[in-house]
Formats: sequence, structure tokens, C-alpha cells
Amino acid sequence: MNIIKLDAIPSTNSFLKEMSANQLLEDFTVVVAENQTEGKGQRGNEWKVESAKSLTFSLLIKNFSVIKFNPFILNILTPVSVFQVLSSYNFRNLKIKWPNDILAENKKIGGILIENIFKSQDKIDVIIGIGLNVNQTKFENLPNASSLKLLLNKDFNKVELLHQIVLQIENNYQKLLSFGEEYFWSFYNENLYRKNVPSVFEKIDKSRFQGIIQKVSSDGKLVVQLEDDSFQSFDLKEISLLY
Ligand code: BTN
Repeated sequence: MNIIKLDAIPSTNSFLKEMSANQLLEDFTVVVAENQTEGKGQRGNEWKVESAKSLTFSLLIKNFSVIKFNPFILNILTPVSVFQVLSSYNFRNLKIKWPNDILAENKKIGGILIENIFKSQDKIDVIIGIGLNVNQTKFENLPNASSLKLLLNKDFNKVELLHQIVLQIENNYQKLLSFGEEYFWSFYNENLYRKNVPSVFEKIDKSRFQGIIQKVSSDGKLVVQLEDDSFQSFDLKEISLLY
């Protein structure tokens, strides 16, 4: 495993992206930092962590074919991999929240930010950024956040977790190349947070509506059954699911 360990940098995603533009890196190169000063989250949000307490890392997948595979598949395979590693611990109610948050006991314990670098018409390099709240116990102004330590009341070994997650992603990636996507879509949809349960969603204009999550479709959209029984698909820019 080619792991580059750093102390504090703005963002492991940005660092790895820049590094891969300037030098030839091995497939599955990992950059891990003890702290990020400008950690990036979904929807342009910040991803802030307490230094050295949590895992913030990025992993490079090179030459991914968006002709052979659905471009969304790595957004499915990655949370599935993190979920599978965490399944070996005793978390209650471990779920994947659309698009790719990791939840346990209804609290967010991990987030994923995937960035694509377009290389040719059919090939992309992919930066998979993962933030996992490991031994952090205070989350200011984040009422829906929690950590592995808060939930299981013990300290975790960050290095071990990092290795487990990277290995799981590598193994799953080989499985994807050999056997295709279906397994990952099914696994993801089976473990989707609030599936088949009435839920409240918020639109961009802050208006709210009720619906029942059916699944995530192959274009990465959330398929929701509305109150009039019709089905509508939403993308990340259109709605957020409230906790
Ligand atoms: C989210 O908003 O849920 C996604 C959070 C992703 C955070 C990780 S931490 C490592 C990597 N580097 C970043 O700047 N962001 C991702």
C-alpha cells in the first residue's frame, strides 16, 4: 500500500489531485492527514475535524472507464466498502444515507467526497475522499454528528481502520472489474437509510415535503414516492433528506 502520511494540509483531496497532475502515481495511492485546514464536504460544505482524532484521507483510482461502467458506481462502491468494514464492529443501525454518508444510530459518522479528473473521452482518474469520525468526541454545531468512539465507548486504532478500508475498496474494485456492478447497487440499496419509511425532504428553496425513499437509481438519483403515490427522482442539487 502506497500511503503518504502528512501532518496538516488544506485538503487530502486537493493535495492528491495536484500531486497526480504533477507526477506519476501508483494506482490506489493514499494521502492521509492528521488535520485539514480546508477540508471539503458535499454541496460545497466544509469538513472540519479535531486534529489527530479522526481519519481524513484520499485514495486515487486511475484510468477508470466510464464507458464500461456507470460513472456513479464508485459513489456506490465506496460507501459500501466503508459500511462493510464497520459492520465487523458492533454498531447499531449502520446505514448508508444518500448519496454516500455513513450513519449509525441515526448519526453521521462518515462522509465521502469523490472528485473526477477527466483524462480522455472514456477514462477518468478518481479521487475518493473519506472522512471518518473515529476518536473525536466533541462536534460543535453538528447535532447529527457522532463518532465510532462515542457510539461504542472505546478508542479505535486509526491506522488499522485506514488499512482495512483501503483494502476493502481495493478488493471491491477488483470484484467490480471481474463481476460487474450489480452486487454493489443491491448492497447499497439494501442498506439505504430511511428506505420505505415516510421521511421529510427539503428543497433548495427550503420548502419541505414528505415522501418515501424507494431506492437510488442508476443515475445516482434518489427515487421517492410522493404523497399522491407518484414517483419522482431527485439529484443532490435538488433536495436533502432531513434526519
Ligand atoms: C461530506 O460532506 O459528507 C463529505 C466529506 C468528505 C470529507 C473528506 S476528508 C478527506 C477528503 N478530503 C477532503 O477535503 N474531503 C474529503
